[in-house]
Amino acid sequence: MPNVANLMERSVPQPVLDTLRCAALVASWETVKVQKLYLVGGMVRDLVRGESSVDIDLSVVGNGPGYAAALSNELGGQVTKVSKFGTAAIETDTLTIDVATARVETYEHPGALPNVTPSGITEDLARRDFTINAMAIDLSSNCWGELIDPHGGMSDLMMKRIKTLHADSFADDPTRALRAVRYETRLGFKIQGSTIDDMQRDGARFDAVSPARVLADFRYILGEASRAEALSRAEELGVLGSISPAFRISSRSLQAIKDTPDHEPLFHVSLIGARLTKSEADTLIERLDPPADWRDALGAGSTYQEIASVLERSDLRPSEIAELLSGFPILALEAQLQLAPATRQRAALRSWLEELRFREPLLSGDDLLEAGVPRGPLIGRLLDELRRARLDRTVGTRDDELTLVKRRLPVMLSNGKER
Ligand code: CTP
Repeated sequence: MPNVANLMERSVPQPVLDTLRCAALVASWETVKVQKLYLVGGMVRDLVRGESSVDIDLSVVGNGPGYAAALSNELGGQVTKVSKFGTAAIETDTLTIDVATARVETYEHPGALPNVTPSGITEDLARRDFTINAMAIDLSSNCWGELIDPHGGMSDLMMKRIKTLHADSFADDPTRALRAVRYETRLGFKIQGSTIDDMQRDGARFDAVSPARVLADFRYILGEASRAEALSRAEELGVLGSISPAFRISSRSLQAIKDTPDHEPLFHVSLIGARLTKSEADTLIERLDPPADWRDALGAGSTYQEIASVLERSDLRPSEIAELLSGFPILALEAQLQLAPATRQRAALRSWLEELRFREPLLSGDDLLEAGVPRGPLIGRLLDELRRARLDRTVGTRDDELTLVKRRLPVMLSNGKER
């Protein structure tokens, strides 16, 4: 068994290393009843690749949550998220440490949450997604740094290969398909052919996965620097289609996602929504059950398509552009601007986003009251008229606005009486 203690000394940032040493010390206390303690998951993978990551995942043979409480106490942290699966998280000022009881997982049906039974590390590693994520480093004092790699993770790291541990891996947990493309594009690896076959064979099992779980893995993809490549690959392998036939991303949207690496996730969601039809957006929203801002972002595209051709007209006044665009979320319009052809539509979007939407009347509601307008809905209607006039530049000064109010007020009052 290779020992990676030296590699840990070199690659792991000192505060993280100190935390791991503290974790080993606490595990040696008789009172906490821990038989073995291991570092697992992404940090082991990244360490063996010579990269450092700071998300600490610990696997405990023994009482995981009890150990988490003792370690948290020692680190001056707080235990959060204790689950019935024997897991807990510790939050310190600088770190999050996930602690799990080493366990075997069985699934009552594909996509279901697992039933768990405490186990040793070998079984715990055997339930994991990919060989490169199924390695552990022993943190017990007498074996500190020993790498446990029963599934050839190290060799797959060298070969840059994403490979599942067994053929039913995606049937157990279809969300692993989204994880596979995420790791593939993040690390610059390739998913092994047989793993792709298994993934495609069991794609339909996504039907059994809850919206919340699909959404969580989709968010992780959007959080990656390689999000455009991962989404493109997920589409190519039929993973998006397995989640929902409505889950398609136009090539222009993909390119735009790639071109805007520093934008927020909601902007990228808006780019995906930008080219969906209404029925696709509705279907996708139902499948992902996302929060309200995502729903708006996904749904705005089809509504925008309905007015896009009007924005091409040469005789549009600024106030008409405002009327067409003011109901849309700003990010949805910024997404459309990113995609729009270099025509009048684009100019209209740009002028609304950059200038028109900030153009407000000089007079306020209070000014209108002072000018003798009765309190009530007329104030709002007059402010709307003033806004339109200001957008179309038919008023310039405060006096122009007051003149307009004085001209329009009697008409509006008499219209009100007639009704
Ligand atoms: N895991 C799994 N199947 C899943 C989710 C997680 O087998 N559906 C296992 C993997 O061994 C993974 C570990 O749990 O390495 C921790 O999960 P997570 O924190 O999501 O992954 P990391 O590998 O730490 O990935 P990342 O680098 O994206 O944080």
